[in-house]
Amino acid sequence: MARILTGIQSSGMHGEVHLGNILGAIIPGVELSHDPKNEALFFIADLHSLTTVKDAAIRKQNVYAVAAAWLAFGFNTDKNTFYRQSDVTEVCELTWYLDCFAPYPMLANAHSFKDKSDNLSDVNAGLFNYPVLMACDILLYDANFVPVGKDQKQHLEITRDIASSFNHQYGETFVLPEPHIDERVMVVPGTDGRKMSKTYNNYINIFLQDKQLRKVIMGIETDSTPLEEPKNPDSCNVFALYSLLGSEDQIAEMRANYEGGNYGYGHAKQALFELILDKFKVQREKYWELMENKELIDEKLAMGAEKARKIARPVLKRVREKLGYN
Ligand code: ADP
Ligand code: TRP
Repeated sequence: MARILTGIQSSGMHGEVHLGNILGAIIPGVELSHDPKNEALFFIADLHSLTTVKDAAIRKQNVYAVAAAWLAFGFNTDKNTFYRQSDVTEVCELTWYLDCFAPYPMLANAHSFKDKSDNLSDVNAGLFNYPVLMACDILLYDANFVPVGKDQKQHLEITRDIASSFNHQYGETFVLPEPHIDERVMVVPGTDGRKMSKTYNNYINIFLQDKQLRKVIMGIETDSTPLEEPKNPDSCNVFALYSLLGSEDQIAEMRANYEGGNYGYGHAKQALFELILDKFKVQREKYWELMENKELIDEKLAMGAEKARKIARPVLKRVREKLGYN
């Protein structure tokens, strides 16, 4: 039995879960969780969200949005464990312990910290310690595999580094987790061509109502090649996104349209919009049903927190003993 674990931050300003999260984390995660040989722990990283979101109401709303997205994509909460990071406060205790084993330069050099500190006005210590909390999310549950997008690879390396140096010093304590990265998905581009991210405000939230969703898609940045002229699909964000979602035939058809001329970016965007509506029809309906039935989400999260604590407590005890806190 392998234990797989992953989290998604509930950090958008309006509770968004975007296409990058869905292709990079939710779909591969749910697929892995269906395998009877796996036990999955999926959680909503609402403690991490405090590094950027300070408004309590937004945070709560975001937790529901992320939870509804996991559930809409078919995560089975009876077989697996589905919880909110902040419900298992043991993780904060472990974070302090492992903070004291995380070398300062390793955290200072983390790409995501450098990137966030260049892009955000509030550069706080939580942002700096972010990878240690993430390491603890994983180590507290003896996770074997962590499905994430490529951007999280370094955080997994940091997790392994901290765990192995602790094990080296105190004897086997932590399970060393392996990242599980879907290389096909790589990095999903955002509407401006950079990595799609809540941090850059360049994301497509597939659960938006049709009209708003269409507006976001129409806002994808493209160059100014005139309608009549042939276009290069390989340098276009719309085509890149379409290629991640379409069938082989659909992609080939769009490529031919680009190369043939008389096909504008507006046409391509409309095709992408329709593809998203068609491909995620069931999930979009399910999501809105759940968002109107938040008690059901609360119930599932409460049950998940219980299950998660049962796993976390003995691991924390193990660590406390090693450190002489028993
Ligand atoms: P964001 O960058 O928007 O804050 P998160 O960091 O909360 O997103 O990401 C949650 C999960 O979704 C992680 O596993 C991450 O690797 C994956 N993910 C986020 N953005 C992308 C992307 N653009 N492409 C692929 N996977 C992504
Ligand atoms: N840092 C991850 C992200 O931004 C979210 C996350 C927090 C996570 N804790 C985790 C992912 C533990 C996997 C495992 O995508």
